[in-house]
Amino acid sequence: MTAPPLAPDQQQRLLEAAQAMLDKAYARFSHFQVGAAILTERGGVYAGCNVENSSYGLTICAERSAVFAAVGAEGPEMKIRAIAVCARNQDGDQPASPCGACRQVIFEFGPEALVLFQGPSGPQQVAISDLLPGGFRL
Ligand code: THU
Repeated sequence: MTAPPLAPDQQQRLLEAAQAMLDKAYARFSHFQVGAAILTERGGVYAGCNVENSSYGLTICAERSAVFAAVGAEGPEMKIRAIAVCARNQDGDQPASPCGACRQVIFEFGPEALVLFQGPSGPQQVAISDLLPGGFRL
């Protein structure tokens, strides 16, 4: 089953929270800044940004930063209702959907979560189960 779409004011609030994180991103290697914000089932909003590292493989994506912040705030029962993602580089705003690893982490905490992001031809609101068919669960 898929969750109903977010109300326009909730969408707006979440996208703004994600956008506000772009300035916080530590993206000195790729210069690709990413911001993410989660709306939990409880109504909390938690945000994250990408944090890169000189040892490139240690980089963490914005989506996972946001998920881990949400778990830290609400605890292990935290459930994701929706997550918004935005990105930019030197040329301005860029389309970006969550990477495969982040899709699996989103799925863990919100198998019916909605994902809001800029697709190649405009804003999209897609269920995580459509972005990650057959996500892994123990
Ligand atoms: N990145 C994210 O933050 N989220 C994604 O879903 C994909 C990629 C970051 C990682 C790295 O800092 C930069 O974007 C370029 O790959």
